[in-house]
Amino acid sequence: MWKNLLLFLLMLLALIVLSCQDKSVKKAGTMIEKAIYGKLPDGREVFQYTLKNAAGVEVRIINYGAIVTTLKVPDRNGKLADIVLGYDSLAGYLGDNAYLGAIVGRYGNRIGKGKFKIDEQEYQVTVNDGANHLHGGKVGFNKVLWDAQVESSTTEPALALTYVSLDGEEGYPGTVTLTVTYTLTNENELRIDYEGTTDKPTILNPTHHSYFNLTGNPEETILNHELTIDAAKFTPVDAGLIPTGELADVASTPFDFNESEKIGLRINAQNEQLQFGRGYDHNWVLNSYDRTVHKVVTLYEPLSGRLMEVFTDQPGMQFYSGNFLNGTIRGKNGELYQHRTGLCLEAQCFPDSPNKPNFPSVILRPGQIYHQRTIYKFSIK
Ligand code: BGC
Repeated sequence: MWKNLLLFLLMLLALIVLSCQDKSVKKAGTMIEKAIYGKLPDGREVFQYTLKNAAGVEVRIINYGAIVTTLKVPDRNGKLADIVLGYDSLAGYLGDNAYLGAIVGRYGNRIGKGKFKIDEQEYQVTVNDGANHLHGGKVGFNKVLWDAQVESSTTEPALALTYVSLDGEEGYPGTVTLTVTYTLTNENELRIDYEGTTDKPTILNPTHHSYFNLTGNPEETILNHELTIDAAKFTPVDAGLIPTGELADVASTPFDFNESEKIGLRINAQNEQLQFGRGYDHNWVLNSYDRTVHKVVTLYEPLSGRLMEVFTDQPGMQFYSGNFLNGTIRGKNGELYQHRTGLCLEAQCFPDSPNKPNFPSVILRPGQIYHQRTIYKFSIK
C-alpha cells in the first residue's frame, strides 16, 4: 500500500517536472516560454516561443513561417517597445502577403521569369510577382509549419526551427532540410543561424524579413531613421525589379549610405532606380565579402536613441523601405500600416543570382552544407 502510494507520488512528480520543462526553460536570468498560438485550418497547432535575456529584451517567434512576431528592446530611457511590424493573431499571418517577420525561401527575393538552369537542366519555379518568382513562391517557407526545438545546450535562450522542403516544391529540385536557429544573446543580439542540406543540386538563398521601426510606434514612418550601409556598389534593377547584372557605383547617387544619412533625405529624388523601386528596394553589394561575419549596416533612430547594427557573412543586403505598405494591412493593435512605416534589411545573395554568372553562386549540392549567420544587435546611442 505504502509502496503504491510512493510510486504514485513519484510518477506525479515526474509528470510535473516534464510539463514544466515543456512550458519554460529558465537559465540564469534567461527564459523561454512556450504557449499555444493558434491552429492551422488543417487542425495542426502553432506555438509561440518567448525568449527573454537578462537585460529584459524579448523576442517572440512562432513555428508557422519561423516568424518573429514581437521584438522588444529598450530606448535610451530603458523603456521597452516592440520594434517590428506584425499581426495580433495567427489569422493575420495566414493571410499575409508582405512576409512580415518571416523566414523567406527557398529563394529570398526575385528570380527572373522563375526560370534558371543548374548543370544545363532547366527549372521553372512558381511565378508569383508579375512575370517573376518572389520569396519562394506561393507557399514559401513563410507559409509552412516548422518543427521547433528549444536548445538546451546554451546559456542564452535559443530556438531551432527545422523545415523539410520536398523535391519539386514550388518547382525547386531536391529535398532541402533547413534549420534556422534564433538565439537571443546577452549582448542584446538576435542571432540567426541557418544550416541547409539537399539531396539533389538546387538553389538556396533564405533570408529574414522583419519590418523594423525603431521608434516603437508604427504610426511613425521610418524616414527619419539614419542608415549606413558598408557598400561601394549596388545592383540596379529593371522595372520588374530584376537586376540588370551591372554592379553600379553608389558614389554621387541616392544609394550612397557609406556616411550615415536620413532615409527620407533622397528617397523621392528624381532617379530611375528609385522610381523602379518606388523608393529603396535594392540589393547592396557589401564591401569586403569574405564569408566571415562582419558589421555591414547601422540603423539609428534619433528620438528613441535606439541603434541597430547588422552583421552578416552574406555578400548582399536588400534594403526595402516598405514602399508597398499602403494602409491596407491591419497589424498589431488594429493599426493600419501606412506607407514606409517599416523597413527590411535582408542579408542574402543577390537577387536573380541563378541567372547572373557574375553574381556569387547560390547553388547547393548534395554533401555541401549551406550556412548563414546574420545578427541584429540592439543598443542605444
Ligand atoms: C522585396 C520587395 C517586396 C517585399 C514583399 C522585399 O524583400 O524586395 O520588392 O515587395 O519584400 O513584402
